[in-house]
Amino acid sequence: MDRMRRLRMNETLRDMVRENHVRVDELIYPVFVAEGENICHPVESMPGICQYSIDRLPEELDRTVDAGVRAVLLFGIPAHKDEVGSGAYDDDGIIPRAIRMIRERYEDLLVIADVCLCEYTSHGHCGLVRDGEILNDETLPLLAEASVVYARAGADIIAPSDMMDKRIGAIRTALDKEGFQNIPILSYAAKFASGYYGPFRDAAHSAPGFGDRRTYQMDPANGREALREVKQDLAEGADMVIAKPALAYMDVMREIVNHYNVPVVAYNVSGEYAMVKAATANGWVDEKKIVMENLLGFKRAGAGMIITYHALDAARWLREEER
Ligand code: PBG
Ligand code: ZN
Repeated sequence: MDRMRRLRMNETLRDMVRENHVRVDELIYPVFVAEGENICHPVESMPGICQYSIDRLPEELDRTVDAGVRAVLLFGIPAHKDEVGSGAYDDDGIIPRAIRMIRERYEDLLVIADVCLCEYTSHGHCGLVRDGEILNDETLPLLAEASVVYARAGADIIAPSDMMDKRIGAIRTALDKEGFQNIPILSYAAKFASGYYGPFRDAAHSAPGFGDRRTYQMDPANGREALREVKQDLAEGADMVIAKPALAYMDVMREIVNHYNVPVVAYNVSGEYAMVKAATANGWVDEKKIVMENLLGFKRAGAGMIITYHALDAARWLREEER
């Protein structure tokens, strides 16, 4: 008779039959870079996470590299916002300058540049706005321009998070035209209109000034529709796709993995991080246990890479386990 417990009887056996693993190589650490000097400003709703000015960013990047984490995802907080999000595609903007600094000092760190307008627009939407409507096609050249500017500054991967239709094609065409055929596009393809982005919007000062993002981000009820988003983005030239948020959408992750042969990336978002931190601070959960369990869940759902604010802690815990 099958006795399931036979293979659980000791640590060695459990280690040997383990189906999934979290690897440090697959972790991506999101970093907030702010305009200004000598800034290391804690994000209240994300304990342990700070905004850094470029001069102090190396402190955090040193910790990243020391932890063994090899990739960062950059978000910018500009000094000034305007209607058209100029700071997003200004060659002298916060992100291109941060990228150039990283390129000079951290040769091996993989730099992924998030591309969106919402941190840079006065209205806080991810696209241009006219008469209260978020414009699609008019936004595309700006996203393409930002992508080229970041690639020129030295970004390794371009990651558009705006959810405008046809942006991948527009960005791919622009990158190729400028000689960046080898820069991959990591598309936020299945990005849902989620309450879990709240803390991020505090961190990036990117909350929409009116309305919400439901005319461009996906309805949380729609799993099958996510496959159409992915199909389109891949047809337009995306190299990898993100499912986001991660915890409440692991079914979507799994469906994408089953349908398409590209790397699927889980974005363990700010609200998910905040909940873990809050429960931990209250002594209600064991942080290490539930973080590693969440990350393992993404792997079980078929994700390859994982974008997570827990990256440095997780890397440390994984290293400790090796010893
Ligand atoms: C902006 C952007 C958001 C996130 C990544 N890029 C927020 C949003 O769409 O409102 C969310 C990340 C997180 O919550 O950790 N386009
Ligand atoms: Zn945005």
